[in-house]
Amino acid sequence: MSSPEAKRLKPNSDNMSGPKAIYDAATSSNFELYKSDHAASISDISSYWSELANSKLDWYAPFPNAVSGSFEDGSVSWFAGGKINVCYNAVDRYCNAPYNRGGETAIIWEGDEPTDTKYITYLELQNNVCRVANALKASGVSKGDVVTLYMPMIPELTYTMLACARIGAVHSVIFAGFSADAIADRIEGAKSKWVVTASAGKRGGRDLPLKNICDAAVKKERCVGIVEKVFVFDGMVPNGSGWIEEDIHVRFSDLVDCQRPVCPCEWMDAEDPLFILYTSGSTGKPKGLVHTTGGYALYAMHTTAKSFGIAQQTGPSNGNAPVYACVADAGWITGHTYIVYGPLLNGISTFMFESTPMYPDCGRYWDMVQRHKISVFYTAPTAIRSLMRFGDEAPKKYDLSSLKVLGTVGEPINPAAWQWYYELIGNSKCAVVDTYWQTETGGHVITNLPGVTPMKPGSCTLPCYGIEVIVLDPVTGKEITETEAEGVLVIKQPWPGMARTCLGDHQRYLNVYMKPYPGYYFAGDGCRRDEHGFIWITGRVDDVLNVSGHRIGTAEVESALVAHPAVAQAAVVGIPHEIKGQGICCFTTLAEGFAESDELVKELRNAVRTHIGPFATPDMIIPTSALPMTRSGKIMRRILRKIAAGELDTLGDTSTLLDPSVVGTLSEKVEKLR
Ligand code: WT7
Repeated sequence: MSSPEAKRLKPNSDNMSGPKAIYDAATSSNFELYKSDHAASISDISSYWSELANSKLDWYAPFPNAVSGSFEDGSVSWFAGGKINVCYNAVDRYCNAPYNRGGETAIIWEGDEPTDTKYITYLELQNNVCRVANALKASGVSKGDVVTLYMPMIPELTYTMLACARIGAVHSVIFAGFSADAIADRIEGAKSKWVVTASAGKRGGRDLPLKNICDAAVKKERCVGIVEKVFVFDGMVPNGSGWIEEDIHVRFSDLVDCQRPVCPCEWMDAEDPLFILYTSGSTGKPKGLVHTTGGYALYAMHTTAKSFGIAQQTGPSNGNAPVYACVADAGWITGHTYIVYGPLLNGISTFMFESTPMYPDCGRYWDMVQRHKISVFYTAPTAIRSLMRFGDEAPKKYDLSSLKVLGTVGEPINPAAWQWYYELIGNSKCAVVDTYWQTETGGHVITNLPGVTPMKPGSCTLPCYGIEVIVLDPVTGKEITETEAEGVLVIKQPWPGMARTCLGDHQRYLNVYMKPYPGYYFAGDGCRRDEHGFIWITGRVDDVLNVSGHRIGTAEVESALVAHPAVAQAAVVGIPHEIKGQGICCFTTLAEGFAESDELVKELRNAVRTHIGPFATPDMIIPTSALPMTRSGKIMRRILRKIAAGELDTLGDTSTLLDPSVVGTLSEKVEKLR
């Protein structure tokens, strides 16, 4: 792949001496075992997964068949006909015999201030989830309804997700960094009658006015008549900002508090939807991916155990349970699978972190590791890179000896960041797992396994059990059988955690994932397979950006820009960014009567923040009189990417450009902004 990321991530041989040693040393009998186990798992996916489903999950009624359907028509289903409840499996069963873990910690919550911590046992979790479930039911929420959640990282978020699962409602969690516009789109898309929010959240010492943002969303015309109630948790912030009592609002903390802590589980079909999660694609509005019940639960549980070397907790722990911390936000798939469902389904404790790695200072993560004796720590390369900037002093102040496994997710990790994480944080003793996956895959699909498969910095290494990864020639669509290969990444057989459809638009699901290479699931990423068969992700092959691990469609940013009256045309491309991985660079031509000015650039930046959210703030906005167009009137994004990255020497063929002089003009503008 010719993307800037590919270039950036070519393993630097100077950097590889340590990691190469790691690779050689880890070539162990466990690795041999992985190879045969993995081969067996993909040679018969049906028995591999049905055996696990029966031994790892508690079913109310057994499933007749493990898997049916095909990629081609998007009819894959797992364990259909089986009856199960995910909340029961994540909470109730651990409170009862034979597990008897009711008194064990289920959630360690650390608020914005380091002194603000809570430990919630499995029994408390069960009671709290039941209260929220009863409060939802009492308000009219029923099985199959979509409940939108716009919440800070507080235990109530987990309670509400699990309460939905308990009563068969479908949660649609929206990351708390999204704007009112983005919330409104998602409420409208899912026809969600119910919204749960909090009066405010806190992050880095600042209040997040979540209820106000939610109110603004609900009042938009496209949501009027859809939303019946907005449930507001208001206990956690004194005088929550801008509280207005209207018919639509329910003071949820009060309602929850007066519920009975007992609520029966709704037994769901394994293929009933569990949740919707919106994510960006290369075209159009974000799509609501639908994850179903039984398959997702099994996949979340299994990958959490395998990827982080964790055993399911089957009895009271004798002080040696893992302390597992995924410091992502529950508003993204990472939080769904590896904060909420995966850990709790294994009966371990999970960690909820409300703050940022920089608050009150850049030692926050390491302070938490020391205080909570965290043994598994899971974060994103962008966080590691931003902490590295502050040097080695902060991590060295803390006792990090409890750590055993370090994880990364969201984008390829550059060797320098890998090395820092491995050596300084892990004291060269921990496994670093580089987990590759997507909102669509539900859980990890490629990663090394601690103590089992070798690591290579920058490579997500080898497929998970049950996952058959293939590299295709992007042009012919043929499988590349040689070990060393470069092409597009596809998956050949269904797996239980895969998303089943795009809400309300199955055709889009087929078009995006199943049609590009018939018979395969197309992930949208390019990759290289090295001489050992290890996978290196080279980045998206579509118009999706990865900014600090956040997935943003260039089309979304473009439509935010063209909605502004000053903008005639907009073309958005990614630029390599030292900390964020990718930054956002916007080229715009202006409508008649508008002139280039700093003021306008500021306005356009705000337009993107308002349409999507602050995390999508452009790094560069370049108004111009012309964009590089083909004679047939298509914007040449390939050329814009090169201009934005300052790679003029590798521009490639510009002979089809209508006006080749725009290249020079735009390059000058870009250079000025650097
Ligand atoms: C895209 C999915 C899955 C959780 C967070 C992001 C990129 C993800 C890795 C990795 C290289 C990675 C891919 C993928 N990605 N993990 N370990 N190495 N790239 O989920 O928002 O659905 O984004 O993130 O490009 O397609 P998402």
